Amino acid sequence: MTIEMDLSDVRRDYESHGITRKDMDPDPYPFVQFGQWLQRARDLELLDATAMTLATADSAGQPSARIVLLKHFDAEGFCWYTDTRSLKGRHLEANPNAALLFHWRDLSRQVRVHGQVQMMPAEDAERYFLMRPEGSRFSAAASRQSSEIESRSHLEDEVLRLRAAYPDGDVPRPDAWIGYRLTPEYFEFWQGQDNRLHDRIVYSPLESGWEMKRISP
Ligand SMILES: Cc1cc2nc3c(=O)[nH]c(=O)nc-3n(C[C@H](O)[C@H](O)[C@H](O)COP(=O)(O)O)c2cc1C
Repeated sequence: MTIEMDLSDVRRDYESHGITRKDMDPDPYPFVQFGQWLQRARDLELLDATAMTLATADSAGQPSARIVLLKHFDAEGFCWYTDTRSLKGRHLEANPNAALLFHWRDLSRQVRVHGQVQMMPAEDAERYFLMRPEGSRFSAAASRQSSEIESRSHLEDEVLRLRAAYPDGDVPRPDAWIGYRLTPEYFEFWQGQDNRLHDRIVYSPLESGWEMKRISP
């Protein structure tokens, strides 16, 4: 069995249009720009266009990253839903600093965002929970995310138990199933270019507004 892979020859060319400062939306800078790039990915119906890698770290600085789905975005920040009892939930309780990464491969684009994370009000989670398909609601209610379970059948039995207890499908949202919002403190828009001469435009907050800079690939 092969357990070693040499990937040094794996590469592709990036064919795309560059970004210039005039392409970047001037006001209110990164939020509008992000909205345009996300919309472009959605218009192209890219698979999981709203998926983002969420990186957190514990109080000792040990990082961990996983994918979550962006559920709301506005000038306040980026929102997703999860279980506070999960690893990411425990990290965020100890250390609110986090990073998000969007990768739209077919557009040769990535967006990196750093910021602080806060829990959103329970009413937001309640509203979104009720919008989810019934199967997803039962799964969320049956799962204590990231805790050890004996077997898959244990989990399936718990779903069956809940379905019997709530035959109308109105299983309650677990209190731990909640939304988080990352308030951005830094954005990077990366556009792949020919010969690895990529475009990178970064934004940092000023007292009022944002400062935009180009950085080297
Ligand atoms: C495409 C995709 C979307 C996902 N969306 C979510 C999500 O919105 N919320 C969530 O809690 N987990 C989501 N997951 C599962 C997480 O990646 C992860 O397994 C889970 O949240 C537990 O992570 P943790 O143990 O680091 O807390 C998604 C996974 C994939 C691949």
